[in-house]
Amino acid sequence: ELPIGRLSTKKDGARAAPAPAYPATRMRRNRRHDWTRRLVAENTLTAGDLIWPVFIKDGTNEAEPIASMPGVERLTIDLLVERATEARDLGIPVIALFPATDPRLKTDDGDEALNPDNLVCRGVRALKAALPDIGVLCDVALDPYTSHGQDGLLRDGHVVNDASVEVLVQQSLNQVEAGCDIIAPSDMMDGRIGAIRTALEQAGHVDVALMAYAAKYASAFYGPFRDAVGSTGNLGKGDKRTYQMDPANGDEALREVALDIAEGADMVMVKPGMPYLDICTRVKQRFGVPTFAYQVSGEYAMLAGAAERGWLDGERAMMESLLGFKRAGCDGVLSYFAVEAARVLKGG
Ligand code: PBG
Repeated sequence: ELPIGRLSTKKDGARAAPAPAYPATRMRRNRRHDWTRRLVAENTLTAGDLIWPVFIKDGTNEAEPIASMPGVERLTIDLLVERATEARDLGIPVIALFPATDPRLKTDDGDEALNPDNLVCRGVRALKAALPDIGVLCDVALDPYTSHGQDGLLRDGHVVNDASVEVLVQQSLNQVEAGCDIIAPSDMMDGRIGAIRTALEQAGHVDVALMAYAAKYASAFYGPFRDAVGSTGNLGKGDKRTYQMDPANGDEALREVALDIAEGADMVMVKPGMPYLDICTRVKQRFGVPTFAYQVSGEYAMLAGAAERGWLDGERAMMESLLGFKRAGCDGVLSYFAVEAARVLKGG
C-alpha cells in the first residue's frame, strides 16, 4: 500500500496539471489541539505511581543539602514527618527511607543494621505514628552500616553470599518489627528473597510486601546516593560487580526476576531506570507482575544539574522522564522528583 495518495486528474482531455501528492494518513490531526492530544494519550502519570526516596540523619530540625543532588536534602526525623505529610496530601503512596548513618557506628559486619533503635527504625516508627495511611519502604543491604561500604559481609576481600543472607534476614525482621510495610532488598545476594520471605512467614509477618531489587545493575549512576548516605569514602576504589549485574546483559535480568518471583517477591524493580527501559518493558511483558523502576541518584543529578544551569527546562524534562517509565510498562517509579512531580500534577 502506498503511503502517498493522488488527487484525481481531469478527464476532459485537457492536459492535467501534475497531481499534487498528499499524505493518505494525517497523523497530525490527533495532535492539533490540546483536547485531541489529551483524548488520544495512551499513558498517564499520577501521584499514585510515585515512591519518594528520602535520606535521613540524626538530630533535630536540620536539613542538610547534598551537593551532587541539587534540591535534595538529608532530613532529620522531625522534618521527615513534616515533609512526608505534604507527600501524603499530594497522593504519594509510599516513602522509602535511606539512613546517613553516623560513621562512628559503621563496622566491618554492619551490626548497626540490626539495632532496633537505629536511624531507619526510628524513622519508620515516627512515620507510622504520624501518618498511618502512607506506606513505608525500607531498603535491605548493609552498605549504610559497613566500614567497607559493601552490601554484604566481606571475607578475605570477597562479599560472601550465604552468611550475608543470614544478616539481611535479620535486618529485614528488625525493620519490619519497627513497622516497615515494604521490604526492598537491594543487596543482590542469591536466594535472599526466599530466605526473607520464609523468615517473615515464620515470624507471622504475613502481610509484609517484598519489592525485590530484582534487576539491579553495577552502575555509575549510584554515585550521588553514595555521597548522600556517606558510603563513597568507605567503598573507596571498590565496586559491586561481583553481585550487581553487568550493564551488558538483558536476558540475565529476566532470570533474576523469575527467581525473585518464584522466591516470593510481590513486586519487582529494575534499577537504574532510564538507561534500562528495555529491561522494564521485557520484565513487564514477560511476567506481568507489578514492575517498578528506580530513577536513581545519578539520573536525578543529570536532570537537576542541567536544569539548575538553565540547560534544560527542568519541569518538562522531569515529567517527560517519569512518563517514559509508564510508557515502558512500569507500574510506578521511585524518584527523588516524586514530590515536585506530584505538585506539578496537582497543578501547583
Ligand atoms: C544500597 C543501595 C544503593 C542504591 C539504593 N540502595 C547504592 C548501591 O547499590 O551502591 C542507589 C540508589 C540511587 O543511586 O539513588 N545497596
